[in-house]
Amino acid sequence: MAEIVLASTKEAAGEVVASHIAGLVAGNPETVLGVATGSTPLPVYEALGARARDGLDFSRVSAYALDEYVGLPVEHPESYRSVITKEFVEAVGADPSRVHVPDGSLERIETAGERYEALLAASGGVDLQILGIGTTGHIGFNEPGSSFGSLTRVKTLTEQTRIDNARFFDSLDEVPIHCVTQGLGTILRAKHLVLLAFGEGKAEALAASVEGPVSSSMPGSAIQLHPHVTVVVDDAAASRLKHLDYYRWAADHKPAWQGL
Ligand code: F6R
Repeated sequence: MAEIVLASTKEAAGEVVASHIAGLVAGNPETVLGVATGSTPLPVYEALGARARDGLDFSRVSAYALDEYVGLPVEHPESYRSVITKEFVEAVGADPSRVHVPDGSLERIETAGERYEALLAASGGVDLQILGIGTTGHIGFNEPGSSFGSLTRVKTLTEQTRIDNARFFDSLDEVPIHCVTQGLGTILRAKHLVLLAFGEGKAEALAASVEGPVSSSMPGSAIQLHPHVTVVVDDAAASRLKHLDYYRWAADHKPAWQGL
């Protein structure tokens, strides 16, 4: 079962996750992080930025993004390459040559998935994967129906996801229809999954992923197959969890020696 961490605010959630990542990086300067885009991980990157300003060295950390839009120029401010550069690389002072994002350019799109899988294989494995969850239940951009064995490949975004992400663009028409995303099988290979969710809008997908049946109709439920998952949520995102009392009880009785 995933460990459920109830955070009072997004900032508090960011602190919990950043403090754990800081410990990993301090212990192994070559830590391999899996990074997500969108709004959810921003408090983590902000808190990591503060650690970097306090002297934590991220220059040998590698990072692998979950996904990228297809056909959006990398220089576009909403390409995930641009977002990861601005929100993560610049915040923590990572070495851009160690930060990887799937190649969404149309010219070589047929091989984008296998090229990214080869890069991930050469990394030696992701130590900690940060995840958000979409209102459709996607993790990465694995929309409902994605195979639990899927690897990095081109996927078609659902209309709901395009609507959700239209807030980052001037209009819905500008939101790409396709993406390259790590598969559920790729994500499940990471050593530790840390899924964050904030707000009422995520409550249903979160409860279904944590407590519902394991089903490709709810891609987030793939986390139930992983041996080490931490779910960090605010009260609103946690509001539909059936076993909330138990999660609070477990948190109150968490052994001091147990980390995240
Ligand atoms: C982003 C990603 C997505 C987002 C999800 C939630 O790289 O893979 O799964 O995590 O769409 O997006 P936000 O955080 O913007 O609500």
